[in-house]
Amino acid sequence: MERPSRLFDSLVLGGQPLPNRIVLPPLTRSRATNDGIPTQLMEEYYRQRAGAGLVISEGVVIAPQATAYARVPGLYSAEQVAAWRPVVAAAKRHGAAVYAQLWHVGRQSHSTVQPDGLPPKAPSAIPITGYQYRAPSGRIPYEVPRELTTAEITDIVQAYGTAARNAVRAGFDGVELHAANGYLIDQFLNDASNQRTDHYGGSYENRMRFLLEVITEVARSLPAERIGVRLSPSSDWMDARDTDKRTLYSTAVRTLNELGLAYLHLVEPEIAGSTTVARPEDSIPTAELAALFDGVVIVTGGHDQTSAERLLADGTADLVGFGRLFIANPDLPQRFRTGAALEPLRPAGIYGGGHEGYTDYPSLAISGL
Ligand SMILES: Cc1cc2nc3c(=O)[nH]c(=O)nc-3n(C[C@H](O)[C@H](O)[C@H](O)COP(=O)(O)O)c2cc1C
Repeated sequence: MERPSRLFDSLVLGGQPLPNRIVLPPLTRSRATNDGIPTQLMEEYYRQRAGAGLVISEGVVIAPQATAYARVPGLYSAEQVAAWRPVVAAAKRHGAAVYAQLWHVGRQSHSTVQPDGLPPKAPSAIPITGYQYRAPSGRIPYEVPRELTTAEITDIVQAYGTAARNAVRAGFDGVELHAANGYLIDQFLNDASNQRTDHYGGSYENRMRFLLEVITEVARSLPAERIGVRLSPSSDWMDARDTDKRTLYSTAVRTLNELGLAYLHLVEPEIAGSTTVARPEDSIPTAELAALFDGVVIVTGGHDQTSAERLLADGTADLVGFGRLFIANPDLPQRFRTGAALEPLRPAGIYGGGHEGYTDYPSLAISGL
């Protein structure tokens, strides 16, 4: 007998009812202006994908130093806040909760995009070696980052707070802290990128300190039940390596579980940033970590409708994200509901450019929806 669909059940997230369990996960598309100001084209893109139950914005940088790539939006200036308002309103038009993903890339940045023209800052002066920076001229090696001073860490924590306040002003319902994919928060968590000898390095407690300070600061602007955290526990993409990932991330999830957060967002082990790869040898089953968290769990990575229903049915996830499927199928929830065929993702226009490969994927005209 066919099981009933759970994807279209509602769920209360941070006191807010969601129309379904389908998540638009954070997807960088590089369509803001060069000053990180959201555009009308972005408004159209989010309007098209407003059928999700939860819309998480693309990574939004918290300060000019936090960025790695051109045309990524920010939430640190008044113009950015004003320009986000219509984008957020468009994403909310069918009742989705809309969260901003707050992002600082740390050592994944490059001197060519740093305001002072110097190498980026990170927990320790350890470069990424297995990967190359995507510069306009092509791939170039990552630089040795400058080690953050404790005063600079405090400044970054405060910048997260300002960005969260700005997110509320722009109309976002909540924020997601990007603690995945080897970016700054993840650089503090993993011992391959954090060799500090002060109270931000060494023990698990010390390596989690930065994340917990950011949560405390952000919680001055919005309740904990409107703050989500994204982790990619098994990924070693961008040298996010640890001698004992299982203990590190189990400890992190247990600690986060005490904070009354909106959700924990787990990226599946087969995902390296934005692509599907072989599962790393030291990968941790998502269900194992999800079981340590009593609140709402989002799982994203390589899922389709069938596997998502399975995750909901077996209790691993409460919500499921669909990244690449949602890029190519703006009306993904309607397609799931009606069993309509899915459009394939086209390589052109994934990062940067204009309308093509961004807002020109077709939506089905389905009567009665
Ligand atoms: C074009 C593109 C941009 C992405 N940008 C972000 C981002 O800004 N922040 C983030 O946490 N993950 C980002 N991701 C990762 C996705 O959120 C997601 O984890 C990944 O695509 C796996 O899910 P999927 O198999 O459903 O696509 C990006 C992925 C893609 C394909």
